Amino acid sequence: MERRTLFVLFSILLAGTPTLGQRDDSSEALVSVNVGVILDMGTLVGKMCWTSISMAVDDFYAANRNFTTRLVLHLRDGEASVISAGSAALGLLHKEGVLAIFGPQKSAQARFLSDIADKARVPSISFTATSPLITSSARSYFVRMAINDSAQVDAVASIVRYYAWREVVIIHEDTDYGNGVIPYLIDALQANSIRVPHRTVIPPSATDDQIKEELLNLKMIQTRVFIVHMSLPVGTRVFSKAKAIGMTTKGFAWIVTDGIANLVDSVDHEVISAMQGFVGVKPYVPRTAELEAFIRRWKRKYRNENPEAERIDPSIFSLWAYDSVRALALAVEKVEVKRFSFEKPRIFGNSTDLDALIVSKMGPTILKAVIETSFTGLSGEFRLVNGQLQSSAYQIVNVVGNGQKGIGFWTPKRGLSPQLGSPTNKDELGAVVWPGDSTSVPRGWEITTGGRRLRVAVPVKHSFFEFVRFDEDPVTKENVPTGYSIEIFDKVMKSLPYYVPFDYFHYAIRNGVSASYDLLLQQVPAGDYDDVAGDVTILARRFQYVDFTLPYTESGVYMILWLCSLCFFVFTGFILWGIERMHNNEHFMGPPLQVISNVLYFTFSTFVFAHKQELKSSLSKTVIIVWLFAVLILTSTYTASLASILTTANLKPAFNDVGELVRSGKFVGYSRGSFQMDLLKPTFGSKLIPLSGPDKYASALTKGTVNAVLHELPYVKLFLKKYCKGYTIIGPTQKTLGFGFAFRKNSPLLSDVSKAVVTLMQSPLMDDIEKRWMLTNDTSQCPQADAGGSHITLHRLRGLFVFTGIISSMALLVACIENLLGGYQNPRVRPPEPTLEEEDEPLADDEQPPVDVGLPEIGGPGRDSGAKLEDSGGRGLSMTENSATSQGHREVTV
Ligand SMILES: *[C@@H]1O[C@H](CO)[C@@H](O)[C@H](O)[C@H]1NC(C)=O
Ligand SMILES: *[C@@H]1O[C@H](CO)[C@@H](O)[C@H](O)[C@H]1NC(C)=O
Ligand SMILES: *[C@@H]1O[C@H](CO)[C@@H](O)[C@H](O)[C@H]1NC(C)=O
Repeated sequence: MERRTLFVLFSILLAGTPTLGQRDDSSEALVSVNVGVILDMGTLVGKMCWTSISMAVDDFYAANRNFTTRLVLHLRDGEASVISAGSAALGLLHKEGVLAIFGPQKSAQARFLSDIADKARVPSISFTATSPLITSSARSYFVRMAINDSAQVDAVASIVRYYAWREVVIIHEDTDYGNGVIPYLIDALQANSIRVPHRTVIPPSATDDQIKEELLNLKMIQTRVFIVHMSLPVGTRVFSKAKAIGMTTKGFAWIVTDGIANLVDSVDHEVISAMQGFVGVKPYVPRTAELEAFIRRWKRKYRNENPEAERIDPSIFSLWAYDSVRALALAVEKVEVKRFSFEKPRIFGNSTDLDALIVSKMGPTILKAVIETSFTGLSGEFRLVNGQLQSSAYQIVNVVGNGQKGIGFWTPKRGLSPQLGSPTNKDELGAVVWPGDSTSVPRGWEITTGGRRLRVAVPVKHSFFEFVRFDEDPVTKENVPTGYSIEIFDKVMKSLPYYVPFDYFHYAIRNGVSASYDLLLQQVPAGDYDDVAGDVTILARRFQYVDFTLPYTESGVYMILWLCSLCFFVFTGFILWGIERMHNNEHFMGPPLQVISNVLYFTFSTFVFAHKQELKSSLSKTVIIVWLFAVLILTSTYTASLASILTTANLKPAFNDVGELVRSGKFVGYSRGSFQMDLLKPTFGSKLIPLSGPDKYASALTKGTVNAVLHELPYVKLFLKKYCKGYTIIGPTQKTLGFGFAFRKNSPLLSDVSKAVVTLMQSPLMDDIEKRWMLTNDTSQCPQADAGGSHITLHRLRGLFVFTGIISSMALLVACIENLLGGYQNPRVRPPEPTLEEEDEPLADDEQPPVDVGLPEIGGPGRDSGAKLEDSGGRGLSMTENSATSQGHREVTV
């Protein structure tokens, strides 16, 4: 309070001496221009700004002694409330006849005061009221000598995007300052596809317990990135509570807006220790020599006025305050206040009613002069546009140790960069020390919230136990889920780069209830489960309850075959080389490089034309011819499967066949409780027969109860594994993506799990899993039942490769034996060679039949029907009983 007394004395001294400037050399009488100052002197910012303002007045007139005007300051403590600031303003207007007011400090006060200022035509110059709720314009008497808060939202959003965080929580105070920027911030985050699942509003009046409770709620949600937009007094309380409950440890990320980032160097040790690892955004001020000198003097003055301060450093608010004084001093000198014979306005002692507000005659002139003033100030280029300062660059800082270090900049044009004016256009920031002294970027979310484990629902099925079934654990005697889907889910969750604890929960699929899987999925948004692992088909309509990972049912494997072809290519080349070398063919002699290139040339040119003339041995010609056939078959097989892949999109679904079923009034079976019920009902009506399990399908088909069964490919495959003989597949009748794991909507795990699924699908582990649960090894027993028509598997073409391999090896063997017997010691002089060549061709032609014989075995993929049966993992297919192998035209639905 002694400060206030001191100040009152100071004001009386200044206000009471109209000839203040007389000690000046100038003989002319100086004109005092009364200026009000409304600050909240209980806050750090208020104290800082007052130090700057009083210093600025002294500095300015010390440097400009011949100025005829003098600003006379009248400080009023506006405290925190709107009312006290309002009454302070009215008092200043009425009692002191101020021509301008610095302040008020708070945005809510400024909103109220801007009305009074407009009415009284007294410019209200604020350097701290940054809320975009208050609009300033060239005509408004509210002049914002500061950058409004909405200018920084893109910088904040860029930081969040830079660290690839997908969700953030916003914590802000419930004031005009706190609320004003939120719509802009949310827009900016949304423009970067960043979700704000939660927003916490803390009123400045909240007790510590209330703050703690709010923070504990935040700790329970998964998001670990917090954007804090608060004034320092509220912020410090939030941070110390956050630290107390362990929310500033490893894994958390905190971003503070400029309201706090500007003041990091001046907060107490306790506060800064709670803010370790925070990232902040603040307007960038270039450090000039002038600024350094100012900072030294300012610190001394501030220390004298506030001896209790622990750490001090002028914030940008102090600089703006300093520059504002200069702007006003220049403006009042320019408008030559004295010419208007400065008078104290009339005082209406009995009225502080706003209607009775005095109106400053000089107001418009002063306002115009103020907003047109521009100069290079301490805070950089000082120029008002629409009555407010414009932002140029923001600095990104990281709170480390006792202060902050710059990690980069953000400009509207360049975005993030480590240096201002660095040439790269790519977003880049320096290294950050995160909360908990961690150097690894926080993931941004946590799966275990307060030790909670993921609840994974597993459907308890009635058929097709290969996908999901429950086995008794020999040790615990508990029923644990296993099966194809579960094994993949286990492997995928284990392969995530972080530990995700989860428990399986049984969910009994009610047999015969239509859309029973949908019922299960609906439990996820209801909060009963987090995920569903099982044979859940990815359907568009199911996305209203859950999100799906990418499908985990198989798709084609072409690579293995290519590798095998390549091996045979080399193998054939080797055989050729072996045989021809024994015949001293000069193409296969000489330096190794030449030999290799020749061998490759001979083998490869087979693809284009037969190259027999260059070959000396009839054996190698045989090898080449066999290889030629193999190549022909491979080529046609690839062409066929490629064509089928390319034309899948245009494939007419076998609805024609299904249509025939409908027209002829045949009965069609479907899996009890399957989603297909809804799809089939309009078509088949009462002709639909629900069946449960492959055994029922088979018996129904055999008995003729149904003529066809409709089901998805993975089930069809399993059915065919069991009952391959005599059934055939028609399809696809309808396309589905396959099976996927269902997750809570917008689960942060989703993309990582999808990635893990794809990685697993591409790994050799997948073959083991498929072999263990699916039909992969038994395809050969049911050649006509193979659904994957376009799949060229090594298995299918093994006859071709075996045939080629045996012929080639035998040729080499014969050549070796001949060579050992010495029959070809001097082949160059042997005359019958051309004859042999001629004989060879018919011989080779004679060998065609064996190759042709091989074709039916091999040629599945090339067949028309095969191409139609394009497999993409889980397409709907219908099966009909093969009329060739069984009596009648019965069709079975699976
Ligand atoms: C003050 O003096 C400077 C030169 O010292 C001059 O440029 C300036 O115009 C003067 N200002 C006024 C208001 O007389
Ligand atoms: C805030 O500042 C930005 C950039 O300086 C400007 O585009 C915007 O209009 C301002 N908003 C308000 C409400 O004054
Ligand atoms: C102030 O009070 C005086 C006397 O009570 C009265 O004559 C005058 O009209 C009042 N002024 C206003 C503005 O109400």
